[in-house]
Amino acid sequence: MGVAGPPDPEQAPAVRRALDGLGFDARSIQALFGTTDLLRLALVGRPLLAYRARGNSALACLGRLFFLEQPEPLHDAVRLIGETPLETLRNAGLLAIDGTFVMPSIRLYLEGELRLVGDLHGSHRPELADFVLGPGPVARMLADLALPGSFANILDLGSGCGVLGCLLAGRSHNVVCSDVSPRAAAFSRFNAALNGIENLRAVEGDLFGAVAGERFDLVLCNPPMVMAPTAEYLYRDGGSEICARIVREVPEHLAPGGCLQMLCNWPERAGCDWRETPRAWFDSTDCDAWLLRFHSLTAEGYADLWLRQQPDGTSRSAEAIGRWVDHLTAIVADRVGGGLVILRPRAHSQPLRTLRSAPHVSAPAGAALQRLMRAQDCLMATNDDAQLLESRLQRAPELEQQITLNIGQAGWQQQKRELRLAGTLGFSAMADATTLGVIAHLDGQRTLAEAAAVYAQQIEVDPHRPVAGLAPAVRELLRLGMLTPV
Ligand SMILES: C[S@@+](CC[C@H](N)C(=O)[O-])C[C@H]1O[C@@H](n2cnc3c(N)ncnc32)[C@H](O)[C@@H]1O
Repeated sequence: MGVAGPPDPEQAPAVRRALDGLGFDARSIQALFGTTDLLRLALVGRPLLAYRARGNSALACLGRLFFLEQPEPLHDAVRLIGETPLETLRNAGLLAIDGTFVMPSIRLYLEGELRLVGDLHGSHRPELADFVLGPGPVARMLADLALPGSFANILDLGSGCGVLGCLLAGRSHNVVCSDVSPRAAAFSRFNAALNGIENLRAVEGDLFGAVAGERFDLVLCNPPMVMAPTAEYLYRDGGSEICARIVREVPEHLAPGGCLQMLCNWPERAGCDWRETPRAWFDSTDCDAWLLRFHSLTAEGYADLWLRQQPDGTSRSAEAIGRWVDHLTAIVADRVGGGLVILRPRAHSQPLRTLRSAPHVSAPAGAALQRLMRAQDCLMATNDDAQLLESRLQRAPELEQQITLNIGQAGWQQQKRELRLAGTLGFSAMADATTLGVIAHLDGQRTLAEAAAVYAQQIEVDPHRPVAGLAPAVRELLRLGMLTPV
């Protein structure tokens, strides 16, 4: 199968009308394949997907072409899709006719309400170094981690097919998708047009080269962060160096109060603090920085993870794993850490720095991230315990208390009580009975001292008693975003 060029944005409105007419949307394709997770279709397995899409309908035919990348006999495609819609998809460059068969030229995805195109999985091979990734679970995760609210200007840096820019376009006046690859920029232009998005501009350039002098309120970036032994793919093989470069260069492009949110990978050395490399990135800026470490993989596990995504069998050999492990060993990476960086112009007299393991983050967590940042701002601005006690604080809405009971001689006995940010950042913290009692009375109106007084009254003790020793525990809950200022 030859590699198709990007589709023509001029044709996108006609494609949209054709797909509307055929009822091609997320709900109908989810029903066809029997799964709501169209970004992880591979988990279902090809034989079962092919079985489910075996029918004689336009949707089944489109499902086979665009999701299974399966050729369709021309006379069947004409009968099922109709001559005019088929011609529209062909004119735009989504389908090609080869003899008596119709073939997909690019892959069509459904992501939320959006229809997006990317390169065919079948064209994922080193000869196509500028392979354009379609939407996937990693981009979805970053979109779900995006801070809430609207932003005057958003930059989708290393935009690929423009998935992040398209997903966030409704929350901004102006979205710029920038990518070093002209093919990627062309895919972004088509995708914006296909979804009727008019506030998105796709530009070409190395990192910030195409947006010199521009500042953004939100920069989202899923960079080519993979630490591979050879640079095969533009979308993948920039290593931790490109993450370091982005941290260095982004401050010039952040509007006051603006943020970078970037996924990243970095090397970790056995016996050393895992924070070593990312901390050095942050030392090159005067910005406030947060790093949440989602995972840390052994060199072997990292090699296996990435080689599993190669389409051709040979590249998944034991020798290939060996090459990756040797490369990682040579650059002193016993393990590879992965996570999210948030960078913002410094908001206090000293830069704020948080580097923390967060292995249980579950999306959407953008609002929880914003609460974490506000809570830490409050801590930075609070000089002493007296000021803290006068603060009006509230509990994070997803805060839960977990009580663990163990069975013993005397039956079930309480082992520990833990506070937990359930379903967002996943942080947990031990808390004593007094802290738990006081924070239960934080209602958004009361100060911490007032909540402590209400609790003292409830348990009938001296009003000053709960206050003693409360401040360090409350500081820790603020540090974790479990409490936030009102
Ligand atoms: C992992 S892909 C992300 C694509 C898309 N944003 C997503 O989340 O699916 C990384 C993208 O960065 C682009 N890229 C690689 N090097 C770059 C550079 N130096 N400057 C700008 N973009 C670059 C690649 O072409 C690719 O589209």
